[in-house]
Amino acid sequence: MTPLLIFCLSVANLILASPAASGHCSSNNNHLDPASKKFVSDCSEQTFCSGTDIANSTCVPRQCRRDEFPFGFSLGEALPPLCPDGTFCPDEGSGCRPLVPPGNPCELNRDEQCGPPPSWKYLASTQNFNGSICLRSICMYANVTLGDRCITDNTTYLDIGPNGQQIANTVTRGNCQSQLYCNPTELLCEHTLPLNSPCQVDPECTSFNCATGRCANPPETPLRIPAWQCALTSTFIVVVMVMIFGFLTLTHKQHRLDRSRELREYYYQQIGLRRSLIALHVAAVDRYTGEKNVG
Ligand SMILES: *[C@@H]1O[C@H](CO)[C@@H](O)[C@H](O)[C@H]1NC(C)=O
Ligand SMILES: *[C@@H]1O[C@H](CO)[C@@H](O)[C@H](O)[C@H]1NC(C)=O
Ligand SMILES: *[C@@H]1O[C@H](CO)[C@@H](O)[C@H](O)[C@H]1NC(C)=O
Ligand SMILES: *[C@@H]1O[C@H](CO)[C@@H](O)[C@H](O)[C@H]1NC(C)=O
Repeated sequence: MTPLLIFCLSVANLILASPAASGHCSSNNNHLDPASKKFVSDCSEQTFCSGTDIANSTCVPRQCRRDEFPFGFSLGEALPPLCPDGTFCPDEGSGCRPLVPPGNPCELNRDEQCGPPPSWKYLASTQNFNGSICLRSICMYANVTLGDRCITDNTTYLDIGPNGQQIANTVTRGNCQSQLYCNPTELLCEHTLPLNSPCQVDPECTSFNCATGRCANPPETPLRIPAWQCALTSTFIVVVMVMIFGFLTLTHKQHRLDRSRELREYYYQQIGLRRSLIALHVAAVDRYTGEKNVG
């Protein structure tokens, strides 16, 4: 998505979300945005609709926040507090509430509003919060075992793609234990599928990633290089280094040999020259003394 589009969507969201930033409101208008599933009310991002008369309430500052960095507050602005352990902050921010036991209502995608099961250590996985899950707006434990009846919940998020087309993303969740998934047609918990098995949706795969019809490693999986590839690459590097070293040594030796040959030739030349000079000199002296004797 282009930054401009994100900016436009954020601005549109702000405008839509705050039709009456202060003043009167009706809690009846609290709802989730049908496309993005974001909480929307008559009040701004910093306030919530409070009052005994539901149809005629007022927007008052939020009492709590659910995120470290909540949406709709600018930098340096005073933030409402986070909730202590054992409590949660509802979407509207109306104040911390105790965790909800199973069978009671919770808000969409807020598994952490549900209290943990006694066996939370065993049931906790990346697909639930401490062994609890919020499905169809009801808290339950993700404790259904292999072959037992389970519940699924489909949530479809809509977004605008880069070319303006609508993109739908459906997330299916179930209350099976980890390593199991809720088959949507039979509604029974089944084993998740290993890598490379044919699949239709992400939850079917143990890796939680169904790509082009087959279970695949998730994109964030670190790339592991096999030991033989490491060994082969290291050996290759060492061999190339040795070859370069040998080549340079040989070239250097050849150079030295050529140079010493050159020097030797020069030396012999010089000696030959010297000998010729001496011979010339001796001949000249002989001639001179011979002429002198004759004279
Ligand atoms: C809403 O309540 C205020 C006082 O709290 C009152 O003045 C006003 O008339 C009420 N409006 C409606 C529509 O009931
Ligand atoms: C899970 O629940 C247990 C028991 O209530 C609690 O001690 C633990 O802190 C919880 N873990 C998380 C991540 O909230
Ligand atoms: C699973 O959790 C539900 C509550 O969501 C509980 O009623 C049920 O007894 C649990 N089943 C098992 C086998 O622990
Ligand atoms: C949820 O979606 C799956 C396929 O993604 C479908 O088979 C199933 O019927 C849907 N369930 C509900 C309750 O809509």
